Amino acid sequence: MLPVDFDTPRLAVVMVGLPARGKTYIARKISRYLSWLGYQTRVFNVGNYRRARLGATQKHDFFDPENLDGSHKRRELAMDALRDMLKWLDAGGQVGIYDATNTTSERREQVLSACRRAGVQVVFIESICDPAMVEANIREVKLGSPDYVDFSPERAAEDFRARIAHYEQSYEPLADAELSYVKLIDVGRQVVVNRVEGYLPARLVYFLMNIHTDRRPIWLTRHGESEYNGEGRIGGDPNLTPRGRGYARTLAAYVTERVPDPRELVLWCSTLRRTRQTAEHVGRPPREWRALDEIDAGEYDGMTYDEIRTRHPEEFRARAEDKLRYRYPRGESYADVIQRLEPVIVEMERQKQPVLVIAHQGIIRGLYGYLVGRPQEECPHIQIPLHTLIEMAPTAYGYEERRIELGPAVS
Ligand code: F6P
Repeated sequence: MLPVDFDTPRLAVVMVGLPARGKTYIARKISRYLSWLGYQTRVFNVGNYRRARLGATQKHDFFDPENLDGSHKRRELAMDALRDMLKWLDAGGQVGIYDATNTTSERREQVLSACRRAGVQVVFIESICDPAMVEANIREVKLGSPDYVDFSPERAAEDFRARIAHYEQSYEPLADAELSYVKLIDVGRQVVVNRVEGYLPARLVYFLMNIHTDRRPIWLTRHGESEYNGEGRIGGDPNLTPRGRGYARTLAAYVTERVPDPRELVLWCSTLRRTRQTAEHVGRPPREWRALDEIDAGEYDGMTYDEIRTRHPEEFRARAEDKLRYRYPRGESYADVIQRLEPVIVEMERQKQPVLVIAHQGIIRGLYGYLVGRPQEECPHIQIPLHTLIEMAPTAYGYEERRIELGPAVS
């Protein structure tokens, strides 16, 4: 047996829970978070294996433990997904998320021993929800599932409840004190942590303690046009131009129309003048984050791109070749920026009220990249225009994005 290696993470996050407990929601959230942090992460969803192999036509009796043919097929699908995950981890993957019900001790034992044989560390994450949450989940997520395309909402809900009842017959919640697990009760209202060891699993626990399912928009924007934007200079601490101040007013009007009581808005900006001035009209003092300050251009702060290209052509080229890892002399790289944004991300997840973040191009790239699940490599290249509000409205598993050009136009 290979030893479990805690230094180079090869981790299996194994979901546990009855249907409609938000397992896929949690699995995808973990996946987005870890991919954004730079870990090779992938979700292996057994439901998708079933739909791909057998079609999306299985009704509740397929999940009845008395149905031997159904049980046999379900076991086969689960084991195939597990094998694929271990193969992928063996080929360089770092975190595999095994998204299935895994509701019996026997099944968990099978998963655990296969992972151990492959030298992969295992953390179970069990989701337990109160009946109201389950019902809301059925209504909001399951009725739209590919499993029920031809069903009326009533029949779909009925079938899904019958499916849950089948699983309930054999469900054994996690209780083995030897196992490494996190029990999430009502998506974070209560969190029970057992034998969670290592840097990455501990970070995951911190993340899981802060997520929830309340829906609220997240608005992201760069500051209004600054004096430096007009001159093509980077960094610095310039003031807004008259056009930039115009944007600040339009932005405040837009947000106030949607959240009339400013106390119900979470408002964040950086410590730099241009974001503070953009936040000025919103009607409440912003929280100023140092972590939201623009990427530090170090010795090139205040220069134009043309000046950098002519005075430091090699540095200019190096940045163009690897924008994620290139670090400005005495300054930062995008990889550095992403690291310092992590507490902002977790805090953003924790908020249950609408959030407006007013920051800078490099910073909004990082935050937006997280929300839409872009890998690190792509983040430095995302287009984030000035005077455009990015509205992220939560959906069942992610966000629906709208870009609102509030003007005035910038040249
Ligand atoms: O030009 C505005 C600005 O916010 C600069 O302060 C910053 O250095 C730059 O954008 C970041 O964009 P890029 O990484 O593409 O140079």
